[in-house]
Amino acid sequence: MDDLRPTPVKRRSILAGGGLAAGAVTVRAVAADAVEAGRRYSRRLPAGWTYPVAEGLLPFGHGVMSGDPLPDRVVLWTRITIPDPRGWDATRVPDPQGFRRVRVRWRIATDPALRDVVRRGEVTTTAARDWTVKVDADRLPSATTLYYAFEALGFRSPVGRTRTAPRPDDDVHTLTVAHVACTSWWHDLFNAYARIGERADLDLVTHAGDHVYDNSGGHPASRFWKGQRRWDTDIDNADWTTVAECRRRYALYYADPSLIRAHQVAPFAIMADQHDYDPATTGDRVTLTAEQAGSVLFEWTPIRPVRPDGSGVFLPSPGPDTNVATPRGRDALYSYRLLRWGRTADVVLIDVRRFAGRPGETSQVLGDEQWAWLERTMLASKRRGSIHRLVVNQVNLSQLRAFNLPFAGPLADAFGLDLNAPEGEIYTTAWGGHPEDRTRLYRFLREHGIVDNVVLSGDSHGWFASDLVEDNQLPAYEPLTGRGLLPPVGVELVGSTMGRPGGQDVIAEELYFGATGGSRGAAFTDAATYDAQYRPLALAPTRALELAATTANPNLRYFNWRAEYGYSMVYLRPRYAVLELWTTPQRVRSRAQRLLQQLVSTVGAPHLRPRTDPQPARGPHRGRLAPAARTVAVRR
Ligand SMILES: [Fe+2]
Repeated sequence: MDDLRPTPVKRRSILAGGGLAAGAVTVRAVAADAVEAGRRYSRRLPAGWTYPVAEGLLPFGHGVMSGDPLPDRVVLWTRITIPDPRGWDATRVPDPQGFRRVRVRWRIATDPALRDVVRRGEVTTTAARDWTVKVDADRLPSATTLYYAFEALGFRSPVGRTRTAPRPDDDVHTLTVAHVACTSWWHDLFNAYARIGERADLDLVTHAGDHVYDNSGGHPASRFWKGQRRWDTDIDNADWTTVAECRRRYALYYADPSLIRAHQVAPFAIMADQHDYDPATTGDRVTLTAEQAGSVLFEWTPIRPVRPDGSGVFLPSPGPDTNVATPRGRDALYSYRLLRWGRTADVVLIDVRRFAGRPGETSQVLGDEQWAWLERTMLASKRRGSIHRLVVNQVNLSQLRAFNLPFAGPLADAFGLDLNAPEGEIYTTAWGGHPEDRTRLYRFLREHGIVDNVVLSGDSHGWFASDLVEDNQLPAYEPLTGRGLLPPVGVELVGSTMGRPGGQDVIAEELYFGATGGSRGAAFTDAATYDAQYRPLALAPTRALELAATTANPNLRYFNWRAEYGYSMVYLRPRYAVLELWTTPQRVRSRAQRLLQQLVSTVGAPHLRPRTDPQPARGPHRGRLAPAARTVAVRR
């Protein structure tokens, strides 16, 4: 937490014009009020203030973030928080402390001290966009590590670090990615985000969805483990019902110091899943639509909007002095898109949720418009000579054929498994429910020789690493060599969650509540008994079902449904792809992490091979991380 505390500083105003910047300015304390348009900004929190914010970073209490890097631009994000005794809700208090708008200056530079500036601008934010700031910084040099910061109300934000994508002719031959999914604030202390935030070698962080959850699902929650917060009355533990509460949920997540740090050190590429878009009904009245939740997602993330016509083409940058507009209505549902990474990879973010199940369409998973876009994107990727395609996909693509399932009932409830499909697939969400779509995709890739596809997924709350094969039995596929009549068209890693329960925890909850007479959703206070007795009891049946699943599905090269949550690393190189599965402690803040598995696949003949003596890999970048997250006072 020390990282977040402001300190008196002696430094130049980084965003000020030439005159002032020439001389050093001494600032005694950050508590000094700032003035804008004749008003004084106070960082002091009113009595009874509950809005989640990293107090030491005010007015940038949710840090800074960047995303969707292209060779010439990257989206930069922050949020201005103005405490007011009338409340935190921007829809009810449009003028906190009397401010109706705030001017925010930004700059991006090649050095952490922000002296060698490549682009700068000034935007205005208001309550209408929940005081978020989102600029598409363009005209940047490609394949470059850059540093950025914002300045508003007399303070400078933490300095963020980001990276632009290479152009095809840049001398770059790698892509280093951290991958996460199902990141649940209540259930995990976000140590995985802290570990990501320590890495200087990242080009990108990919998120396969459930980036911010609508509710806790009633599962035992690490953040309430020792009774620090009241489980039953806490506004941040309730299902969101309004735009204001949806926005507040982002604030809750973004006030976490580990997430602030991860956001600060590398650009994110997020594909939201169903929890992020969850609508709300109160009584008979719809109080929050999926479209409105989508608009909040666009307000609070650096996702660059695309044209709302199914083309997947980005809207142009509005320039340095205008915020990126927030898509509204149906436009807020479109976010499938492409980020090109030189000759190394095309990062293809697909959406298997919002265009699924449309009557009369051929693709029941992607919808026909998105299907056509994906075919075009994959063909163009091959034509231009991109080595890999890194596909971010919310729900597992690989098949999961029926296997003998201990604790079938609760697992079916928790994961929507279809237990009446003895010959078919048990996981029928998205691709599993439409195997004809999957087969069509695999055939298309095979017929066009587009085989080096690395799919990064989420949703299954466990580690599932698979070869992508149409038929996972001999003679089509031989699991030890990956050869056969229909060899793999790529590989997939379903990354585990940050704390959202997988198989072992679903079984442990069933045993625990069966023994104690409680039920999910009730206040969960007996953490010690749960962790010490019921989780271990659930381990043997979890191991049994892992074995049954890998036996029934030979292309499932690694499967771990234990309470071992964390993040993945993906290293794309000219001749191979390396996947690493890292687990981090869930209930306590700790720097410990453990490599569960390392898998390698060779370019030209994709097939996951587990390394028996794994050595953690590293990306080639060594450069400096951004300085610790700190807001400092500046004088204009
Ligand atoms: Fe999830």
